[in-house]
Amino acid sequence: MKRLSMYALLLLALVPGARAQQAVPLYMQTDAPLEERVEDALKRLSLEEKVALCHAQSKFTTAGVARLGIPELMMSDGPHGVRAEIEWNSWNYAGWTNDSITAFPALTALAATWNPDTAARYGRAIGEEARYREKDVLLGPGVNIYRTPLNGRNFEYMGEDPYLAGELAVPYIREVQKNGVAACVKHFALNNQEKWRGTVDVVVSERALREIYLPAFRKAVVEGGAWSIMGAYNRYLGQHCCHNSVLLNDILRGEWGFDGCVITDWGGAHDTREAALNGLDIEMGTYTNGLTSESALGYDSYYLATPYLEMLRKGEVPMQTVDDKARNILRLIFRTSMNPARPWGSLCTEEHYATAKAIGDESIVLLKNNGILPLQPDKYKRILVVGDNATRRLTDGGGSSELKPKDTVSPLQALEKIYGDKIIYTRGYACGRPLYERVEEVPAATMDSLRNEAVALARTADVVIYIGGLNKNAYQDCESTDRKSYNLPFGQDELIEALVQVNPNIVIMNISGNAYAMPWVDRVPAILHASYLGSMGGLSIADVISGRVNPSGKLPYSIPVRLSDCAAHASGDPKNYPGIERGEKSETAIPGSLVDGGADPQVTYAEDILVGYRWHDTKKIPALFSFGHGLSYTEFEYGTPTVSSARMNAGGDIHLSIPVTNSGKCDGMEVVQLYIQDDKCSVPRPVKELKHFRKVFVKAGESVNVEFTITEDDLKFYDETSHDWIAEEGTFKAHIGSSSTDIRHTVRFKYLK
Ligand code: BGC
Repeated sequence: MKRLSMYALLLLALVPGARAQQAVPLYMQTDAPLEERVEDALKRLSLEEKVALCHAQSKFTTAGVARLGIPELMMSDGPHGVRAEIEWNSWNYAGWTNDSITAFPALTALAATWNPDTAARYGRAIGEEARYREKDVLLGPGVNIYRTPLNGRNFEYMGEDPYLAGELAVPYIREVQKNGVAACVKHFALNNQEKWRGTVDVVVSERALREIYLPAFRKAVVEGGAWSIMGAYNRYLGQHCCHNSVLLNDILRGEWGFDGCVITDWGGAHDTREAALNGLDIEMGTYTNGLTSESALGYDSYYLATPYLEMLRKGEVPMQTVDDKARNILRLIFRTSMNPARPWGSLCTEEHYATAKAIGDESIVLLKNNGILPLQPDKYKRILVVGDNATRRLTDGGGSSELKPKDTVSPLQALEKIYGDKIIYTRGYACGRPLYERVEEVPAATMDSLRNEAVALARTADVVIYIGGLNKNAYQDCESTDRKSYNLPFGQDELIEALVQVNPNIVIMNISGNAYAMPWVDRVPAILHASYLGSMGGLSIADVISGRVNPSGKLPYSIPVRLSDCAAHASGDPKNYPGIERGEKSETAIPGSLVDGGADPQVTYAEDILVGYRWHDTKKIPALFSFGHGLSYTEFEYGTPTVSSARMNAGGDIHLSIPVTNSGKCDGMEVVQLYIQDDKCSVPRPVKELKHFRKVFVKAGESVNVEFTITEDDLKFYDETSHDWIAEEGTFKAHIGSSSTDIRHTVRFKYLK
């Protein structure tokens, strides 16, 4: 109602008759330059009205200025679908009957597609849904780098490589924003673990910050043009990221020229002075842990509410701070909630379901196949499906990204559609009810009987399809907790071993947003790996298993053999993960929260720039499955590359072209990856780094030419002495391959200044 009356006011102001009586204020003239509108609105605001813009007025909204017809901002999670309506002033779901949506695959699935066009489809569809649901800010995408497979939130991010994450974030953001809905890129920055997330201070070199942890954010802001960004819960240089002077003032605004809004993570503000001075615009969720807890204090007691107003009145912080914040917020409002030209959006359309399905199809990674896959329907009479994830609704749980989908198809339902009554199902293991920050123990006797039943059925089946992995319960792929172990939970390793013993015809189809140990890897003939695929996930899974879809996903993160092979865990020193506690036990991670805040914890990223494949390559510790790996039901041959020159001059570039032939029997997609290696450098560098990739569709028997342009920027590293990106003269190699370890050709060239 409130919003309708504001639009009415706006329309009235624009009707010619009305104009005659009253001039349309400049800030309402949508064809006037944005900055002029911002300044015009700003000068009409009282101090109280400016401050009121800077903090929440409900769980997911901020106030506008009703007196001036400036509407409020409506926000929603994000990032895999538009979250169900939350009550105005409590964390309960509002119980609406018209807020069911399309659940899209998790962002880690998007990363596994390695396809920017698919990311654009994703952004378009989720943006339309957000708009239809009348949201102005969609809380996503997340581009934090995958540092450890124990991070409970990796499924919400886009893998271990900053270039890959950035290339996919940009089209997602641009398409979301075409709907007049702001993307809110999160969580800026260094939010790479959930353990102690509200307090942990991250110690990282400037070089690793610049080369690994910031580039995807930078690209999202500079190339994606994101209109908002969410500060992270953790600390950097001892200061909380939501009001961190280096991250927000110096880098985000100073260097990257960000003109959008900085929004806290929910409960991420801790100090009025810092919040006033250090680049924060909007404070959300204070006195909560973002999901469950609450305090009696209201919105007026937020750091950027009455306490800020008082400091401003007393002259303790400059008025300029609130003017800057109000400018950023007005700009966001004009771009979104006060943009009468934005489209209406749509919800749960055929096209959105097709998009969700296409992302899922393209994201499933075939890790291993001895030829058993795809499972031809006429070849088997009795197909046993085992595993809790064959039926579990994996859109539930996981924290703030949980979704209320209108429709979902489970893997079991989809397999039954294809294989009919040949399918028998048994659960095999149980994992208890999803409890927030708690795990329900399943009695050993229950687990034994589930396992025994599965093994007995496996003996008589022609083939077993195992559908397990992690789920969205606490201590799995779930916000606010990290995993406790690298192995699969719920006794799945033992179960898989027992099943293989009685039936070696087994296909492992694990669903997970993270890497996990595979002690049974050599004894199973085929392994598929999928992330959480949303509404249409079951169909994508069944189509890949049956061969209706040829898999084309590639790992966006390495799968180490064991946890200690992963850079963050190599030292075995808790300093490097999860960190050490250095002081007094703080009662909470986030004011009012139940989450363990630890005692002034600090984590040191000792592996520095060697994250993921950069570590495996450089330290010669092979991953079980490498970054960029993913097989197909067809074969791709890489021809000899041609290059425009064997020499690059300063400011120049080199064009490289390589023919890729589908030499197998079915059509398929391949991701051609280009990594750059610096032969010799004055500072240590990773063996190679991803600089370009292309996903191409190639019909069976046909070839395509894949073109790349290598630029000087691709050769650079971040120099901590000059605080700048530099390339040193010398020999470089361009490695072209089908994964980070399956390199098909290497081209050498010289770089001379
Ligand atoms: C999460 C954010 C989320 C916010 C609002 C926080 O706990 O960290 O990612 O957007 O809650 O639900």
